[in-house]
Amino acid sequence: MTVAYPHKSNNGMGAREILPHVVRDRKLHLVMLNRYRYNEQHSCLDLTDLVEKLDGQPKELVRDLSHHIADEARHAMWLTDLLMELGADIGKPPGVSYIKEFDRLIDQESYKQQGNLDDRLIHGLAAINVTEKRGCEYFSAHIKVLKEAPKTEENIKIIKTIEQIFPEEVGHVRWGNRWLAQIAKKSPEHRQKVEQAKCQYVAIEQAAYESGIDLMAGAELRRLNNLLEVANTLPVWERPQYLIERLPHTLLAPELQMTRIQVAQKAWQQDPQGFIEKFVPMFLNGLNQVSKNQQKAVS
Ligand SMILES: [Fe+2]
Ligand SMILES: [Fe+2]
Repeated sequence: MTVAYPHKSNNGMGAREILPHVVRDRKLHLVMLNRYRYNEQHSCLDLTDLVEKLDGQPKELVRDLSHHIADEARHAMWLTDLLMELGADIGKPPGVSYIKEFDRLIDQESYKQQGNLDDRLIHGLAAINVTEKRGCEYFSAHIKVLKEAPKTEENIKIIKTIEQIFPEEVGHVRWGNRWLAQIAKKSPEHRQKVEQAKCQYVAIEQAAYESGIDLMAGAELRRLNNLLEVANTLPVWERPQYLIERLPHTLLAPELQMTRIQVAQKAWQQDPQGFIEKFVPMFLNGLNQVSKNQQKAVS
């Protein structure tokens, strides 16, 4: 069976590389917590959507999903309470939204057309499973980084909240793995569908994850590359339509430009000299990556 785990970004940025920087900057830290809150809240919508699609069958799964929704709603509640206590924003987080990008990249049309219950199930479970794995990667790294950070009253409150959520997320991942393995056992055809869905959602999740953290020059071309990776997991006849529908947004994402401007402004305001010495070379470094990728593609 494929082990469908999320990967680091192209430039090697995973939770363990990103979170130490985030925790050091209070504003960024609060934005990150608000992103967690937003994603938890949004996952209630996705799970509810799956319950409605299943329409009562299989009963055990619908029951499990109803418990799952309650867990995610509680996670969102804990994070909302925490953010309120810390005087932070609880509106839509700034920047490219990971979960919205994930939804955009899902092939909604073929997803909706799946008349077969097992197919709907496989897709729904594979999609939920891969985002929960990313959540676990972040929560576990966040706890580790906070344990090494100064023991301020605020950090203690944050760690307590994440430590409450993390074990339940690990449980959700195991639950998803179990259901997918159970469906795969039904027949060789089922096994193949489960494998294919896992590959597809790993590619979609990777593209969504990278779009949220890659702001450097050439990000549009890397987004295009990721979109092609997702398209390659689809049946050949579905690929052109899938690409045509998503190309404009992939190459001209307005929220990517907006986030770039905000990040650049912030870096400039905090440290004009550092902006020239560090931020500009880091931004341009993104171009080197594009040319490296192009060279790889040619050779
Ligand atoms: Fe959760
Ligand atoms: Fe979860």
